[in-house]
Amino acid sequence: MFGFFRKISAYVPIKTVLIVQLVIIIPSFFELVGIGSVIPFMSLLFDPVAGAKLSFLKSFAAFFGIANQRTLLWTLGSIVFFVMAVGNLTSFLSMRILAFTGQKIGYSIANKLYRSYMSREYLFFTKVNTADLATDILIESDRINFGILQPLLMVNSRIVLVLVISGFLIYVNPTVSLLAAASVGLTYGLIFILIKKLLKKNSSEISAAQRTRVLNLNEGFCGFKDVKLAGRESYYVSRFTEACDHLAHLQASNIVLSQFPRYFIEVFVYGFIVFVAIYWSGTMPAKVFLPVLTSFGVAAMKLIPACQIIFGGIATMRASTTALRALDHASASASDENFAEVEPLHLKSDVRLEVKGFAYPGFTHEVLHDVVLCFPRNSTIGIVGRSGSGKSTLLDMLIGMISSQHTRLVVDGQEVGGRRTRQWQKVIGYVPQEVFMSDKSFAENIAFGIRAEEIDLVRVREAAQMAKIDTFIESLPEGYLAPVGERGQQISGGQRQRVGIARALYRDPDLLVFDEATSALDPVTEQEIISEIAALAGKKTIVIVTHRFSAVRNCDKIVLLQHGRIAAQGRYEEILAVNSLFREMACEAS
Ligand SMILES: Nc1ncnc2c1ncn2[C@@H]1O[C@H](COP(=O)(O)OP(=O)(O)OP(=O)(O)O)[C@@H](O)[C@H]1O
Ligand SMILES: [Mg+2]
Repeated sequence: MFGFFRKISAYVPIKTVLIVQLVIIIPSFFELVGIGSVIPFMSLLFDPVAGAKLSFLKSFAAFFGIANQRTLLWTLGSIVFFVMAVGNLTSFLSMRILAFTGQKIGYSIANKLYRSYMSREYLFFTKVNTADLATDILIESDRINFGILQPLLMVNSRIVLVLVISGFLIYVNPTVSLLAAASVGLTYGLIFILIKKLLKKNSSEISAAQRTRVLNLNEGFCGFKDVKLAGRESYYVSRFTEACDHLAHLQASNIVLSQFPRYFIEVFVYGFIVFVAIYWSGTMPAKVFLPVLTSFGVAAMKLIPACQIIFGGIATMRASTTALRALDHASASASDENFAEVEPLHLKSDVRLEVKGFAYPGFTHEVLHDVVLCFPRNSTIGIVGRSGSGKSTLLDMLIGMISSQHTRLVVDGQEVGGRRTRQWQKVIGYVPQEVFMSDKSFAENIAFGIRAEEIDLVRVREAAQMAKIDTFIESLPEGYLAPVGERGQQISGGQRQRVGIARALYRDPDLLVFDEATSALDPVTEQEIISEIAALAGKKTIVIVTHRFSAVRNCDKIVLLQHGRIAAQGRYEEILAVNSLFREMACEAS
């Protein structure tokens, strides 16, 4: 329980939770007054003469100046009704507060989880499966809300109700009350001990089944073309169906496990009341025991559902515990700093990258070693090398996506890290090997991550012109407002790359980084774009990674990477003269 609060405290406002808890406890006291007022009312009803002699009723009648027994009965009846009505009203109000505040708190878990993941470093995302994160944010957070937080609040309020009413019943008749409480409590306790292992097992199987569902859904849709071509639709559908069936079975089993005690507890309690009624009817007159028995009956009507809510709530919590693992990888407190606006860190002189050695987390093989590179401001640098030689990894370090203890990124003599990384990233325009497309319009994809009404359409057009995508976009009926489809499905690979280039240019960055940015283009379009980029030479710092040597021929410096090391660097002709691998690659490229 304390572990739960420690985990959850970063995600929900504990103070609000406590206030909600208090509010939903209040109706218990009204319920008690309602049940308590039944006894004098019933006593008066069954035996007006003896009832009027009860000390409580005597003081009551004196206080209100009531001399007539019939008036006393009416007054008392109205009070019983009024107290019950107020009790139900407070129950309604507390239910309303629980619904609104509880839901808000519950959904804030999902919100904080998303914020937390969005502020994680890039390498985190290279290790996890995003379908797992989606499961945590959308499904497991709901289980924490509906399966743990809300039942916990309800269980607490019902525990208070049960204690208060039981306390009163014990006061009225200790023997019968204690006997009933012990039998009911023991039955529930025993059942819980018997089923708790099964509930926990169900909980972890539900988590796993949910993950399998989301994973198969995600992979089936994202890789639809490959799936279809390979005729593997049934593989994904059947795995999804198996997970759904298993989930249905687990959820149903949880419902049955948490509800089934109710059916024989109810029978037991009503049987118990019948037994006591028959027993008392043989030992005392009806007018003596009926008021007490009636109040026991009313109390049972309140207690049985309350006990069931407690049992069902605890069972549900037990069956949802594994959902808390969703909070393990996230750190709710990390969020705010990462979302703050920062000033750009403009490049004045040069940027240096020093890599003693770098291996991806979880791997021992170093993909870069002993790399020291300087990128002077407004120079154009080309990086070439065989596939897997470490070019993209090196670019990721330059743009501040990857850092490690053995790497140093120094901008104008000052090391970049933490907040400065975000400042540095603000002056970078980067075109990756695979350009990500948002399911929005061309304008929104070029401006990227900006609300439609804040987009500078003039700059969008200029960037599109430089990236040679303007003619195509303007030929569409909706122009820049035309959609590109999910992951850019409605446009070609080359068009996606050009939107990526336009996106980098829209930012008017100090540093432009191209990672195989023109690989999908025909030679003519590629040459046109290279000319546009060449026109920026001397005005911007440009880093180009490519397998096409024509794109780097005029660079101020070319770096040749081989197995993660710098094999050669210099101008095109210089390297060509000294390095056989470079000659080989130049030959292949031409
Ligand atoms: N996230 C990762 N986790 C583990 N290893 C990785 C990861 N990304 C890349 N690698 C490995 O690092 C090495 C360098 O990869 P990198 O992508 O930098 O090569 P590259 O030169 O850009 O290749 P290409 O020309 O094919 O794009 C490769 O051996 C690759 O398998
Ligand atoms: Mg690469």
